[in-house]
Amino acid sequence: MPEFLKAEVLKKTEAHVRKEFEGEGSGHDWWHIHRVRNTALTLAKEEKADLFIVELAALLHDIADHKFHNGDETIGPKTARLWLSSLSVDEFLIQHVCDIIADLSYKGADVTTPMKTIEGQVVQDADRLDAVGAIGIARAFAYGGHKSRELYNPDVPPTLHDSFEAYKNDKGHTINHFYEKLFLLKDRMNTRSAKKIAENRHHFMQEFVDRFLNEWDGK
Ligand code: ADP
Ligand code: NI
Repeated sequence: MPEFLKAEVLKKTEAHVRKEFEGEGSGHDWWHIHRVRNTALTLAKEEKADLFIVELAALLHDIADHKFHNGDETIGPKTARLWLSSLSVDEFLIQHVCDIIADLSYKGADVTTPMKTIEGQVVQDADRLDAVGAIGIARAFAYGGHKSRELYNPDVPPTLHDSFEAYKNDKGHTINHFYEKLFLLKDRMNTRSAKKIAENRHHFMQEFVDRFLNEWDGK
């Protein structure tokens, strides 16, 4: 595709996604997409990935998330395909973006989520970096509140899910989410640049949960 058409597609997609996500209250708002897009582009330059595919996939990665569509994993790629077809994007590019969206999500502690291409690896890392650190903590509690989950319940220990079904159906409290996903992300980054950023954010989250549990116990 010629560069001017690519620029046009990105501009229209950004406007579309922004409109869809503005004001969302579960931590999946437009600014999540905005941060993931920017982080993904930074990683993509370091990893020499295709910038157009990376930006497009980052913009569309949560366009119809299974978490908000009764666990339907096929709706994200389908929705992205419809949108990109309406802009006459080349089929092989649509397929690449849709494959990334289909494979991206975290599916449980004991479920691997390999990405087929460097573009996919970069977008997955960027999405996961936005789930850790200070922003990660804020998003976890925003999501928990959105789903009416307890902050913490000492009677309910975490589960290391071995299937996406089990992970999706878990309705546990938000502190468990740190053990079931957020603390595991640093060892699952694909790229070296993302690993380095994740390390720092990981320590901050650990410090936060340590303090949370100490305060809980009145220490
Ligand atoms: P993924 O597709 O890998 O789940 P998302 O971009 O949809 O990635 O982001 C998931 C966000 O939702 C994270 O910030 C995560 O903390 C939050 N989240 C998902 N499930 C839970 C949960 N059970 N409790 C708290 N936060 C959650
Ligand atoms: Ni996301």
